[in-house]
Amino acid sequence: MDEHSIRRYDGDREALRPLFREADDSEQQIDSYLDLGDVLVAEHGDQIIGHLQLITDHETAELNSMAVAANQRGTGVGRALMQAAIEYSRQQAATRLLVATATADIGNLRFYQRQGFRFLRVERDVFGTATGYPDNHLIDGIPLRDRVWLDRDLGGES
Ligand SMILES: CC(C)(COP(=O)(O)OP(=O)(O)OC[C@H]1O[C@@H](n2cnc3c(N)ncnc32)[C@H](O)[C@@H]1OP(=O)(O)O)[C@@H](O)C(=O)NCCC(=O)NCCS
Repeated sequence: MDEHSIRRYDGDREALRPLFREADDSEQQIDSYLDLGDVLVAEHGDQIIGHLQLITDHETAELNSMAVAANQRGTGVGRALMQAAIEYSRQQAATRLLVATATADIGNLRFYQRQGFRFLRVERDVFGTATGYPDNHLIDGIPLRDRVWLDRDLGGES
């Protein structure tokens, strides 16, 4: 995708809920963090086509939610959002970017590693009905069950 721009979003977060839903199947979880941190959006014309939420705690910025509209994926918008997040986090004096995703989501694991993230740790049985996730949910045939954390150093060249 060319002709998109990225900016900080200071509007009503509810308007972004459909994009947050693309990144998280639990409405309960989204309710708990929708209003936190800072949000960057990618726009094409006057249309928001992607978002990224950053929650910064001292030197660590957590990339808590990110999605690109389904019909705009695979064209570089996600990469551009990530680059903007890296620059934004550095401006906030963060030295590390942290992200978590489902171990089942192979596509996300590729995306994050292509953006310089490395595996940090795994938490088992995080995604279940107790936290608002559907029962027996499969991604690419793999049970949605465990969460993996990845991080990326923000020092040096990106
Ligand atoms: C993950 C996501 C944000 C990536 O955005 P995108 O705009 O499609 O990504 P880009 O086009 O910038 O791709 C950047 C690179 O990641 C790769 N990539 C992106 N999504 C991928 C996927 N699902 N599977 C494999 N590779 C993927 C691209 O092939 C590209 O690789 P390259 O550097 O070798 O060319 C997007 O797929 C999305 O919104 N997914 C649904 C929401 C979601 O799961 N969010 C993350 C929750 S943790």
